[in-house]
Amino acid sequence: MCHDQLEGSSTRGVRLTRRTALRGALAVPAWMALAAATTAGTSAATSAANAPVSGARVPDDDEVRADEVAAFLDTWQQRANAAVATGSTDDDGLLHALLAELSVLGVERLPGRQQDAYSSDDFTSGPIAASPTFLVLEFELAPNAVITPHNHVGFSFVSVGVEGEATVRHYEPEAGAPSPRVLDTPFDLREVQRTLLTRGRSSSLSRTRANIHAFRGGPEGARFIDFGVHYETTNGGYEVFSKLDIDEAASDPARGIHTARWIGNPKS
Ligand SMILES: [Fe+2]
Repeated sequence: MCHDQLEGSSTRGVRLTRRTALRGALAVPAWMALAAATTAGTSAATSAANAPVSGARVPDDDEVRADEVAAFLDTWQQRANAAVATGSTDDDGLLHALLAELSVLGVERLPGRQQDAYSSDDFTSGPIAASPTFLVLEFELAPNAVITPHNHVGFSFVSVGVEGEATVRHYEPEAGAPSPRVLDTPFDLREVQRTLLTRGRSSSLSRTRANIHAFRGGPEGARFIDFGVHYETTNGGYEVFSKLDIDEAASDPARGIHTARWIGNPKS
């Protein structure tokens, strides 16, 4: 479903409220985005720096904000490229730095997805920006929808809530767990973090930390954005993608241990 068709209308999920203008503005020339990145960073400061000469048109607030969004995406594309190219192992450092800048920019300023890459009764997702090293994906969950638990091979990701709410849970296998190549064999899996994603709240995974996650939309559904860095090496993380079947009831509630099985990649 086209994002534009959803704007201002009630869907099964949250009521989307955001701008069409920002999407078009993402197509601003790269030099303009870079210029925005090197000015003072606030609308007022940017406007002052661009004080009009006779006859010059002053960009409106939407245009200035769109420039800042484009600059943010360009900057983090370049930083992801550099991290991958240098073989960085500091997945968390990069994500934390991105979050710090995003908190200044405001996640609500990002545009919606450019197209739908996946759609089901439960959720629709698509790219806001996509390259081999850096992904920015929008997810829109229907009320109470589920995204099946899965791992991420060679990726770090941070999910940031935009509208509505969703619960994201992260897991790590206990020592002795089988490879994801070994399906349907029970093993102990530990829940290591759980976050309610609402606007501005975030939850991350790295190649070797909390790399399995699963989502459940709240009663009004949710919209969130995933920022992902795709490294050339797994750095000791998973070599194979797989979804998981996880027993809801913990086998050891005090430690958050659940019985789980790798299930490959069935449609879900
Ligand atoms: Fe995921």
